[in-house]
Amino acid sequence: MRNRIYVNLENILASLDRNIFGGFAEHMARCVYEGIYDPTSPLADENGLRPDVLDAIRRLRMPLIRYPGGNFVSGYNWRDGVGPRDQRPARLDLAWHNVEPNTFGTNEFIQFCRLVDTEPFLVVNCGDGDMREARDWVEYCNGTADTALTRLRRQHNFAQPHNVRYWGIGNEVDGPWQIGYKTPQEYARAFTEFGKLMKWVDPSIKLVASGISHWEGAVLERIRLLIEQASDLLDYIDIHWYFGNRANDFAAFMTVSEIIEERLSGIEGMIRGVKLDRGIQRDISIAVGEWNVIYRTDETQGIEEIYNLEDALVIAMHFNAFIRHARSVRMANIAQIVNMIAPIRTHPNGLVLQTIFHPFDLYSAHCGSAALDVFWTGDTFSGGDYTGVRVLDVAGTLNEATRELALFVVNRSQHDTAETEIQLAAGALTGSVELYTVNGADIKTENTFSATDEVGVRHTTLPASGRTLSLGFEPHSVTVLVSKVQ
Ligand code: AHR
Repeated sequence: MRNRIYVNLENILASLDRNIFGGFAEHMARCVYEGIYDPTSPLADENGLRPDVLDAIRRLRMPLIRYPGGNFVSGYNWRDGVGPRDQRPARLDLAWHNVEPNTFGTNEFIQFCRLVDTEPFLVVNCGDGDMREARDWVEYCNGTADTALTRLRRQHNFAQPHNVRYWGIGNEVDGPWQIGYKTPQEYARAFTEFGKLMKWVDPSIKLVASGISHWEGAVLERIRLLIEQASDLLDYIDIHWYFGNRANDFAAFMTVSEIIEERLSGIEGMIRGVKLDRGIQRDISIAVGEWNVIYRTDETQGIEEIYNLEDALVIAMHFNAFIRHARSVRMANIAQIVNMIAPIRTHPNGLVLQTIFHPFDLYSAHCGSAALDVFWTGDTFSGGDYTGVRVLDVAGTLNEATRELALFVVNRSQHDTAETEIQLAAGALTGSVELYTVNGADIKTENTFSATDEVGVRHTTLPASGRTLSLGFEPHSVTVLVSKVQ
């Protein structure tokens, strides 16, 4: 037995915030138009939404969805997207070099959120937009006083406030590609002033600052200035990344877990360090506001990635990292939800659940209320810049109400089953162990419009009792193991 997973049910790291299962929808190519909103489709309902897409999104149980961008938001004026559709202006979208028709906007997005049981998370334009637009958007959405903006919302048939709780200020402001790129100093000032006014309009909102997406310098300075200048306004610092396997090197791709670990523990340390230095008590969490795999496509091709099994393993490793960092990672938003770099791809007659849909679905379904500090040892491998990386990537949660243990195990071996013993420090597994395995013929297997189920989930059970369980994890697989514990 070369691998061992040690579980102590009392080693609780933190409560797990279900907001790690968030999504992101941007006005970009086929995400909003055709993906979410497609009034010309024979499959669409009376609001132009496709029930098959809504059902697939509901299955992922996303607690919140970030909108409307992304790079798009840095040139967006929310007023263009409200009111009678035939009076809305078409505008040039300089982020994606497109014409934005504005036939889908704030109210349509919020209605869509209600239909898929999710909270809207709106990002204000801190690129070419100003703080007046930002505070007005908060007032339009959440205001209750009798003002021009709340009357405008009522005129648009929304008598009740939308109560949008999560608000981001700007997107990837640290990237030179962004409309309205900002230096660390400029952004800390902008965040402070935007945030102050937005909270004066509605003190109950949570604010998300644009943190790091360009991991090439000034990381510490950005975090430091934000916390020093705006700690009383700041609820989350938003960080973004995308990974890829351009070199077609499976072992190297499987070590992205190490980069995620370095980045999360680095940002955690920076937040803690600045708070310690300045005597700040307030909780400031990490939001991983965009994350996924992108490398095959680019803007000119619409960034519609077709995902394979190895990408699904990378998605699972992200969730494992978010669980292991549950104390600080309190939100994450997979980018995106439909068509663009997404778990769901539509075509005129239906949709396909991409490989990455399945780990998302399983983690979201089985994650418990508390993140456990699980320890594991075993076989190792080398890839990219890393050596001695454990073949298994593991995380665990406990559902404190139902006393259900969930273990999440990625076997990163391309060819070998990982024979493993799971040991509880105390207590026992009871009843049967439910195993849900995501796998396919090989690491390059994809789900496509013509072959939709090449990678899926297999459900099996094992009898369980006592403190140990021996089993083998299949090569290139993600397994979620669920068992009652006493
Ligand atoms: O999700 C696609 C794009 O990637 C987003 O617009 C931007 O924020 C990121 O660079």
